[in-house]
Amino acid sequence: MRPAPSLLGFALWPSLAATRSIRATTAFENKCLQFRPEGSVRNATRTELQFVKAGTRVALADNDPSCNTDGQAVTADLCRVAMSIPTSNRSSITYEMWLPETWSGRFLATGNGGIGGCVEYENLAYGTANGFATVGTNNGHNGTNGDTFYQNEDVVADFGWRSLHTSVEVGKKLAALFYSEAVSKSYFIGCSLGGRQGIHSAELFPEDFDGIVAGAPAVDFNNLYSSRARYFTITGAEGAPSFISAGTWKTTIHDEVLRQCDGLDGAMDGIIEDPTLCKFQAETLLCGTNQEGDCLSDAQVQTVTKVFSNYLWQNGSMLYPAMQPGSEILAAGGLYSGKPYGPSVGWFKFAVLEDLAWDPASFTTDDALTAGQKDPGGIRTWPSSLAAFEGRGGKILTYHGQQDQQITSFNSPRFYEHLAAGMGYVPAQMDRFYRLFRIPGMGHCNGGPGAWVVGQAGSTAARGIPYDREHNVLAAVVDWVEKGMAPEALVGTKYANDTVDSGIAYRHTHCKYPAKSTFKGGDRKPSEVDSWECL
Ligand SMILES: *[C@@H]1O[C@H](CO)[C@@H](O)[C@H](O)[C@H]1NC(C)=O
Ligand SMILES: *[C@@H]1O[C@H](CO)[C@@H](O)[C@H](O)[C@H]1NC(C)=O
Ligand SMILES: *[C@@H]1O[C@H](CO)[C@@H](O)[C@H](O)[C@H]1NC(C)=O
Ligand SMILES: *[C@@H]1O[C@H](CO)[C@@H](O)[C@H](O)[C@H]1NC(C)=O
Ligand SMILES: *[C@@H]1O[C@H](CO)[C@@H](O)[C@H](O)[C@H]1NC(C)=O
Repeated sequence: MRPAPSLLGFALWPSLAATRSIRATTAFENKCLQFRPEGSVRNATRTELQFVKAGTRVALADNDPSCNTDGQAVTADLCRVAMSIPTSNRSSITYEMWLPETWSGRFLATGNGGIGGCVEYENLAYGTANGFATVGTNNGHNGTNGDTFYQNEDVVADFGWRSLHTSVEVGKKLAALFYSEAVSKSYFIGCSLGGRQGIHSAELFPEDFDGIVAGAPAVDFNNLYSSRARYFTITGAEGAPSFISAGTWKTTIHDEVLRQCDGLDGAMDGIIEDPTLCKFQAETLLCGTNQEGDCLSDAQVQTVTKVFSNYLWQNGSMLYPAMQPGSEILAAGGLYSGKPYGPSVGWFKFAVLEDLAWDPASFTTDDALTAGQKDPGGIRTWPSSLAAFEGRGGKILTYHGQQDQQITSFNSPRFYEHLAAGMGYVPAQMDRFYRLFRIPGMGHCNGGPGAWVVGQAGSTAARGIPYDREHNVLAAVVDWVEKGMAPEALVGTKYANDTVDSGIAYRHTHCKYPAKSTFKGGDRKPSEVDSWECL
């Protein structure tokens, strides 16, 4: 924290200090309203300049309706800047920078999700609440469907890498101008597409960040989108013989998954600690003669077997890993819903095939091959080395929910092993700069029956937990970068009913890959944090 020097001498005189602090706030407000960021960013147009008081809500009336946010609560006094910044003669980004009055000297960039162009306002609020000068962008387009990728490679390039990189270059420069002091350290936080953005940045622009929090990273992006497009061709539409209703996924199949695999970790608690150990056999659910109800037809058994098997190229090599057992409760309403998966449809229609009449039911591995060969915007993100990033001291903290219903959690160990092999590293060497934490019972980026609150995002996920390296991933990466205190394990929090005000239900230790959380056994309770160890 860096209070204005003029305040320091008055700390012991409450009345005077109070007067001073009112005047200091006014001074900050004036400084904000006099800021002219557009003068320092080529061709930029300023669209907002606003002093925002802690405890108020920023109105976002212009935000694209598909982004589902028309306002953001703010807990720190800050200066909000928004600009439109051209990135080519046919593309531009919407740029937001929130500059807190109480600044730690740190910079934070935030990611995006899906194929979308939604600014993560909750993470702008989260960053500023913790003293970071924080930026976010629309990733080059508004809304969630990606139609402006069509016949515009510049919009795709913004989405693939340029929007984030531009926001970092502009952000570091503007923070220095605004505070009259250079940024001390630079960080990134994002999940899903955002996780991919963080890792891609470490690959392409190793100078941009000192520390990166990359949740459930959508690395190997084209193959991920192919695997997502494929689910509709596996399940078929509602009513097809291969289709399975949400109710059957959530009860019949999920119950059988737990029956076969919940106890593998020694605790029957409804959570599979390490789904890689679960070799689910769907045949046990095949209906017997004249049996009806809690059982599956042949075609349905095939559906289950396919989603829980690796997706292979025709030559038998891996295209993308299987979905992990345990995620079916949440995937039932999404990837297995019998409807084409929206973001995959958008990616293929607008960016890969550029065919507005494309029929998602026609998807095959030929389309997957086209996606990989075209690699729109250079988005793939599958580096076999991050030596330049590591070499300048960069750190990546990554985590993945083990019930992720959108990006199989098996892809994160796969990427870890790929990177380790490429760099010739054993885990002790990976530990120097890249640490993966598997989070049992967590869905995609958040949610689920596990202790999933680890400070990964602003809205619900960070409130109520201590902002320290044990409980909060952002605090953890900061201490790793600045104090050399590397995270060994993370303690996740589960709120009763996922509601902070209802209190903490339990805490759980999440282990650093390749270790896994192991029940100590005996008459210990699975819900107690000390009942588990990382082995
Ligand atoms: C900035 O605007 C000028 C004049 O309109 C144009 O010539 C130039 O290409 C623009 N630069 C960028 C980076 O868009
Ligand atoms: C995107 O939305 C912002 C408001 O959030 C608006 O200022 C901008 O013009 C929009 N961009 C496009 C390309 O429509
Ligand atoms: C945009 O710039 C490119 C060169 O970078 C040029 O080929 C193209 O004609 C320009 N497009 C427009 C619409 O001005
Ligand atoms: C299998 O096919 C894929 C897609 O064409 C290709 O990328 C991969 O290298 C092939 N693997 C082998 C072992 O030939
Ligand atoms: C959680 O929600 C249920 C049902 O709404 C309620 O009965 C229960 O009391 C809640 N638990 C807490 C700790 O608030």
